[in-house]
Amino acid sequence: MAFDFPKSIDLAQLPTPIEKLERLSKIFEGPQIYIKRDDLTGVGMTGNKVRKLEFLLAEALQNKCDYVITCGGSQSNHARATAVAAAKVGLKSLLVLRSSMSAPLEGNLFIGRLVGAEFEYITPEEYMRVDDVMLGLAEKLKAKGHKPYIIPEGGSNAVGSLGYLKATEELAHQIKSLKLRIDHIVVAVGSGGTYAGLLLGKFLYDLPAQIHGINICDDESYFVRKISSLLKDMQKRYELAVKIEQKDISIIDGYVGKGYGLSSQKEIDTIKKVARAEGVILDPVYTGKAMLGLSDQIRQGRFKANENILFIHTGGIFGLFPKKTLFF
Ligand SMILES: Cc1ncc(COP(=O)(O)O)c(C=O)c1O
Repeated sequence: MAFDFPKSIDLAQLPTPIEKLERLSKIFEGPQIYIKRDDLTGVGMTGNKVRKLEFLLAEALQNKCDYVITCGGSQSNHARATAVAAAKVGLKSLLVLRSSMSAPLEGNLFIGRLVGAEFEYITPEEYMRVDDVMLGLAEKLKAKGHKPYIIPEGGSNAVGSLGYLKATEELAHQIKSLKLRIDHIVVAVGSGGTYAGLLLGKFLYDLPAQIHGINICDDESYFVRKISSLLKDMQKRYELAVKIEQKDISIIDGYVGKGYGLSSQKEIDTIKKVARAEGVILDPVYTGKAMLGLSDQIRQGRFKANENILFIHTGGIFGLFPKKTLFF
């Protein structure tokens, strides 16, 4: 089915390549593993968020906004990507971070500062009502004559998730032109928008692959609810009559480990293994956990030796630097 995408702006370097991970496939002793390098969408704007921001910032510019407000953890990739993309298109950014003022100025936080983002630090308790906090900050900016545009956590709403609907269109073309057979697509899930876009895209572009999300926080039932609601919003807003049922949403739970942003030795070892076997750098918060999940699911027999898997590398490299002491 053809879909007329709303206006977007070009931020990401596309299409991102698909590579075969021969050595890792041998190490995991299972299916052939391919990787889609969405960590290569750009330097400052590396990762999956940039695809979402192409639609979100287009809407902000169309609405004549001059500020973007968004939120996340202190090392939020999404907040950093938003700040860099905002600077690129001439918007100011205000990042509401779940942290203390004493969070070290490293990794994503450093890049955010570098591109001139403003910061509002709030406690984990305050963060539970972060949408209200962002609305309050927007009111303050309006009182000063600004026009703010609020982007929810992870850029995961109907507009942002279009980024991965469009990525699925790109993927469908690549799979066809490379003559690949992909049985499963595996991706990290943090706020659900990437997965929602991919799943809607699977139905829209007739991708035979099953889409599996590995959650890196919360749990399966939380994400099935969140993704169902995102899919509903997207279908309503863009008048997409595609029949998707809850059973089509595959969330593989069990790899949150010590919790959001916290690393276990197994996750660190997985990141090292992939780096040394393939020269591919995963991140500690999302793709490291997802890759550990994938290897464990191969070991448990969910994915078979005669199948082909595409792992989507969603970026996050700056999250490695604040954790360097855990590696050696
Ligand atoms: C590097 C990375 N991978 C994966 C994700 C998960 O994407 P989503 O929030 O769309 O579920 C995020 C953001 O949350 C991320 O920063």
